[in-house]
Amino acid sequence: MQLSQQESCVTMTYAACWRVGLGLCTLVWFTGCDGHNVNQTAHRVAQCLSGILGNFDMSKRILVTGGAGFIGSHLCQRLLSEGNEVLCADNFFTGSRRNILPLLSDPNFELLRHDVTFPLSVEVDQIYNLACPASPVHYQFDPVQTTKTSVIGALNMLGLAKRLRVPILQASTSEVYGDPNTHPQVEGYWGNVNPIGPRSCYDEGKRCAETLFFDYRRQHQLHIKVMRIFNTYGPKMHPNDGRVVSNFIVQALRKQNITIYGDGSQTRSFCYVDDLVDGMVRLMNTDASVIGPINVGNPNEFTIRQLAELVVELVNSGSRVAFAELPIDDPKQRQPDITIARDVLRWKPTVELREGLVRTISFFEELLSTASSVSEVLQ
Ligand SMILES: NC(=O)c1ccc[n+]([C@@H]2O[C@H](COP(=O)([O-])OP(=O)(O)OC[C@H]3O[C@@H](n4cnc5c(N)ncnc54)[C@H](O)[C@@H]3O)[C@@H](O)[C@H]2O)c1
Repeated sequence: MQLSQQESCVTMTYAACWRVGLGLCTLVWFTGCDGHNVNQTAHRVAQCLSGILGNFDMSKRILVTGGAGFIGSHLCQRLLSEGNEVLCADNFFTGSRRNILPLLSDPNFELLRHDVTFPLSVEVDQIYNLACPASPVHYQFDPVQTTKTSVIGALNMLGLAKRLRVPILQASTSEVYGDPNTHPQVEGYWGNVNPIGPRSCYDEGKRCAETLFFDYRRQHQLHIKVMRIFNTYGPKMHPNDGRVVSNFIVQALRKQNITIYGDGSQTRSFCYVDDLVDGMVRLMNTDASVIGPINVGNPNEFTIRQLAELVVELVNSGSRVAFAELPIDDPKQRQPDITIARDVLRWKPTVELREGLVRTISFFEELLSTASSVSEVLQ
């Protein structure tokens, strides 16, 4: 019997549905058998279905560790705005609910109080590993925990990425270069790091995490991305973390003296957080051959004294500059060479320091005016 074109089209559609249905039942049965819960199975089915149907839905389920922190909260916001589901895992050591408050009502956002030094079993398509206190006052508060967070946290997240066979990005740092004796710093430079000083828990912890990432790549062919972040600033920085930008702004807004450690001739380059997050997302979405390490930061260099003067001018506070002793192992110069980021990620910073400072100052102005106490600011 000859079928009409319309009839054969209907028959083919039925057949395709049967195959997909049968495939799904088998998949549910298989994935259900290894003890995963129903949610995890459902996620795998959804992944598989999106594969079968040709990836009509490009949104992903993304884990951000340290997602309630300064950079992490901006990253969560950016990923949600692109239509993804975001799972934020944070132990709130330096992060705060305040940072992610606007995200909590978003049905695509999920918050998990979790310490990355313990294993985590979830189903996701990508992992951004940011969990780690980043400012010296915080990472030196409990240095043993800092090293554990960097090293054991990396191991746990790499283990998760290995089980799921998904890409994982490590938020590494320019601190892996220590007090550099080449300038600007290129990724091939191995660094000048004190292994036994007060900053070592952070610097060496992050270096060891990079080693683990590369060993997982060599040993397990994991899809890794290592990004070396240089000094980043912007709204949602912790007001009491002792980092130079937040320090200067808070002191200026309170009409206090601006404290400069050393003579202020040491240089830093400052990257606005939106630029940084853009580089991070670009790196994550490169193909598997791009693994880094890649420097991301703003190469425009300023002395600390210039920064202090600019903040005083923008806040219009009339604050004076006070000098204090330089902390041990404080790097004298920091400037990223971003040739690789420009070439491979097609990335460059777009927000100038003056503009970024204006936005950051208005965030702190509002924060300090609405919070009656420092403890309230930190919630
Ligand atoms: N901000 C910068 O200039 C800068 C520079 C270089 C690298 N980095 C890296 O970027 C990442 C984010 O930095 P940030 O500036 O947003 O710092 P942050 O302190 O604001 O954020 C870190 C987040 O990690 C969380 N955290 C800490 N220990 C944890 C643990 N054991 N388990 C789960 N969560 C934990 C904190 O609560 C916080 O929310 C860090 O890994 C940091 O090393 C930042």
